[in-house]
This record gives sequence, C-alpha cells and structure tokens, in this order.
Amino acid sequence: MTDWETRYLVGDMPWEKGQAAPPLQEVLSKIAVSEWGEGQVLVPGCGLGHDVRALAGHGLAVLGLDLSSTAVARAEQFPSVGLERYEVGDFLDPSWQNGRKFTGWWEHTCFCAIDPADRGKYVQAAADCLEVGGLLAGVFFINPYDPGEERAGPPHGVTVAEVEQWFAPWFERVEAWVPTSAYPGREGREWIGLFRKFAQP
Ligand SMILES: C[S@@+](CC[C@H](N)C(=O)[O-])C[C@H]1O[C@@H](n2cnc3c(N)ncnc32)[C@H](O)[C@@H]1O
Repeated sequence: MTDWETRYLVGDMPWEKGQAAPPLQEVLSKIAVSEWGEGQVLVPGCGLGHDVRALAGHGLAVLGLDLSSTAVARAEQFPSVGLERYEVGDFLDPSWQNGRKFTGWWEHTCFCAIDPADRGKYVQAAADCLEVGGLLAGVFFINPYDPGEERAGPPHGVTVAEVEQWFAPWFERVEAWVPTSAYPGREGREWIGLFRKFAQP
C-alpha cells in the first residue's frame, strides 16, 4: 500500500508538475460554470492543489481533499484564489463525508492512484457525495506504461471500457474525448469522461 504522506515528505512525487492538468483547461473551456451546479466541487486526492486553484479561478467553489497533511499544508501555502478550501481526509472512508453533498467532482490522478481493488469504493463515494444530477468530470490515466514497461503501480492503468463499466450503475456518461493537451509524457495516454449522476441506480 502506498504511503502517500512519506512520499510527500521525502519529495518522491513524480506526478507533481507544478501546474494544473492541461486537460482540465479543455474541460473548463467546454463546460459552463453553471453546469457544475451551485454547490462545491470536490477534488479527491488533490495533492498540492493546482487543479483546485484552476477550478476556483474559473469561479467555482472547490474543496481539495487529500490523505496527506503535508500535501494539504503545501497546497494552503499557494496564493489563494478565494473560492477554494483544503482538507485532510480519506474520501474512501464513508464517515469522511458526514452528510456533505457536492454538485461537482473533478478526477485527476486519484482513480489511478488508489488500489484497483478499491475502485468500487471510489464509485460509491462519488455516488454518495454527489447530488442527483451532479457532474463528475475526470481525466483518466488509461495507459500509463509503454509495452513491456508495465510496473506494479501506482499509477494503475484502466481501459475506457472499464471506466464506463465502473460508473454505469450510478452515472450516465454525457461526453468523452481524448484530450489534445497533456503534461509531457502523458500525450495519448489519457481520456476525459463527463458523467452525470442518475436519480437512482
Ligand atoms: C498520484 S497523486 C496525484 C495528486 C494530484 N491529483 C496531482 O496530480 O498532482 C495521488 C494523490 O491522491 C491522494 N490519495 C490517495 N488515496 C486517497 C484517499 N483515499 N483519500 C484522499 N486522498 C488520497 C494521495 O495522497 C496523493 O496526493
């Protein structure tokens, strides 16, 4: 099991690129602020919070959540956009939510970071946290490795069909595309999916 706190403490964080995920800009340019609903957007596994601040800079109220108190403390040191908050917590633990609801969810390098055995818990957490009609937007790391380079992960790759299958019990997929922008080295390895939560499974 990955010890995320230690990885931040020792600086072993190859995912940290010092800027928001390039595909998030594509999502923000396509999806009007009103489509995220009037509540907060949750960013699980927010790390140093670059995506949190990009979403907040777009006019959205955002909560960045991370297991690592070091990551959250570092996120809080960046200049605030004014609409963002951070919290230390485990979104896979149902007690974390404590009745709170969100109208949006931004996924980036969290689904691929958790143990694949916890993917059902991820989808359940998203379904529990989001209001009916809530928007789950994500860039999924489909193909993190070159052929022959497969490693134990994280990141753990996932196929588009698997992502669709995981979310299907609770979410309708409304749009999807392969992003044209990416961090160097991630070109062609990611997939954006936009999902809306159904009324009932
Ligand atoms: C690969 S890092 C990505 C961080 C950030 N999204 C980025 O791209 O810079 C995965 C992050 O998810 C966090 N994380 C993993 N499992 C989590 C959980 N169950 N609840 C909250 N955060 C979690 C880790 O602490 C880590 O910051």
